[in-house]
Amino acid sequence: MSNIARHIAIIMDGNGRWAGERGLKRIKGHERGAEVVRTITTYASRHPEIEVLTLYAFSTENWKRPKMEVDFLMRLLKNYLQKETATYIKNETRFETIGDLSRFSPALREQIEKTREATRHGEKLTQVLALNYGSQDEIARAARQLCEKGGAVTVDTLEAQLESARFGPVDILLRTGGEQRLSNFLLWQSAYAELFFTQTLWPDFTPEELESIIDRFKRRHRRFGGI
Ligand code: FPP
Repeated sequence: MSNIARHIAIIMDGNGRWAGERGLKRIKGHERGAEVVRTITTYASRHPEIEVLTLYAFSTENWKRPKMEVDFLMRLLKNYLQKETATYIKNETRFETIGDLSRFSPALREQIEKTREATRHGEKLTQVLALNYGSQDEIARAARQLCEKGGAVTVDTLEAQLESARFGPVDILLRTGGEQRLSNFLLWQSAYAELFFTQTLWPDFTPEELESIIDRFKRRHRRFGGI
């Protein structure tokens, strides 16, 4: 039986370089990147295998960027959710998040809740945006909660405390933009993920390339530690 691409997680890298190559400001790359988010999410919602698409939209490290870029990303995200809620509903896509939202503005948090609530019946796909997300932080928080509760610390009890656990293990972990690192993204859930790296910058990424990655994934031999 071939592998099932149930959960795909993507590190969307290369927006800044895409803009730089065209003599544009970095924010133009993010703008174009948001359009690709829409295209890939719509494609995934129609795909027979994909149930969960987790996208790294803002890491705990991204606050280090210039304030102007951070502010732009926040505005882009809010406008995107506002504008795209109808698309989520049309494509029967549920919107969810992982990460610590407490640092975001009340207006953005309100929009996140609105979109989450409006799309909660979506059954074709769950799109999870990782926002102010960092895997080590998530694991540390889970460990803290477990210590406070008391009881045995096992893989199962620790996993049950993880925010990302409800979306299940990652099958394909993809990074665009040419770098080959995980950048603190879904470390626990990717324990047995198949890793893919492409040189393509996120604004140039297409459903065709995603399909060819799924194709390669199907031909890989997954052993999960067995032989
Ligand atoms: C990495 O590119 C991308 C980000 C840090 C942000 C991801 C944001 C988007 C794809 C657009 C907005 C998302 C949504 C959901 C509306 P980079 O800036 O690190 O690129 P570089 O490595 O070429 O500089």
